[in-house]
Amino acid sequence: MNVIRFSDLCAQGKVAGKRVFIRADLNVPQDDAGNITEDTRIRASIPCIQMALDAGAAVMVTSHLGRPSEGDFKPEDSLAPVAARMGELMGRSIPVVANWVDGVQVNAGQLVMLENCRVNKGEKKNNEELAKKMAALCDIFVHDAFGTAHRAEASTYGIAQFAPIACAGPLLAAEMDAISKALLAPKRPLVAIVAGSKVSTKLTILKSLAANVDQLIVGGGIANTFMLAAGLKIGKSLAEPDLLDQATAVIEAMKARGAAVPIPTDVVTAKTFAADAPATVKAATDVAEDDLILDIGPQTAQALATQLMSAGTIVWNGPVGVFEFPAFENGTKVIAQAIAASSAFSIAGGGDTLAAIAKYGIEDKVGYISTGGGAFLEVLEGKTLPAFEVLSRRFAG
Ligand code: 3PG
Repeated sequence: MNVIRFSDLCAQGKVAGKRVFIRADLNVPQDDAGNITEDTRIRASIPCIQMALDAGAAVMVTSHLGRPSEGDFKPEDSLAPVAARMGELMGRSIPVVANWVDGVQVNAGQLVMLENCRVNKGEKKNNEELAKKMAALCDIFVHDAFGTAHRAEASTYGIAQFAPIACAGPLLAAEMDAISKALLAPKRPLVAIVAGSKVSTKLTILKSLAANVDQLIVGGGIANTFMLAAGLKIGKSLAEPDLLDQATAVIEAMKARGAAVPIPTDVVTAKTFAADAPATVKAATDVAEDDLILDIGPQTAQALATQLMSAGTIVWNGPVGVFEFPAFENGTKVIAQAIAASSAFSIAGGGDTLAAIAKYGIEDKVGYISTGGGAFLEVLEGKTLPAFEVLSRRFAG
């Protein structure tokens, strides 16, 4: 994808003394007292900010935090805790500027954080007047918010239309490159793992991937619906019987291309959904009426691991079992370890997937870990994200 890259502008000496407006995604989880409980997005946003400072720019960074009501700022909407955490990580103090739309005082070499951009009236609906005002604050707009790349808001889309220069920051560019490598020009076989509780929430993804991947591994409640479609009994496991036709259509679409959706041959079941529920490994053909399937069985896990070991590219979204409960974590653990051991380029995204990656300590062995939640899912659905669309357009002229 052709976009202007901020790193190129810096290397070409075009950033010194310029006013740079960075839209980051600093939307991090906080506890009830406002403490940040997970700071990956803050850490991932620092390289772009540091790049701008090193290049001699006057730097403004903003983000949304949560989903506040526009025009109604509340203390809990403030980016102050984010600025404090980022300041700790960068070893500098980062002032937070409120009411910034009509003008920001910042000099070359300085960094300020502009208060939660979603409290500005018109942000969500990409109001043109607001976008133009934001664009007027800068010489260069840098979109580095992959987690928000699927939103067309004033600070993510409108500003990119009107700023003198609009480019992709290093995080957005890295996400874009990893996605292109995995989905547009993948080394084959391309294997996707799509798991989660419901087919309905991931149906578009399943259909889109069915047209492209060589193996589509399904897990969790999604796999249960596929097992039903394959004529197996699943007891009282979570499934969506009304979507059997859709699951069958995915299986048929894959078959028609000589590809496959592997159906589990064994499963781990329990009688109740609880961490201490006794776990039973059984053949997929032996599931009883009062069984709950909570994981794939060891034989299935091993077969999938073998497939992953010979993959050229792996896309991973979703754990295949209830990995939070030790008795039902084996499938997800084996898959995670196979991805780590495989020489395939792998890309992973989604909250639960990141939790599994952290649990099995394979962060360094996954080719790319996406910072996007909804944005990553929309990419898998085959959509062109608004951020990529507008930045490509600005590249073209
Ligand atoms: C996310 O957390 O997925 C992003 O920050 C986007 O947030 P949103 O869904 O509130 O737009």
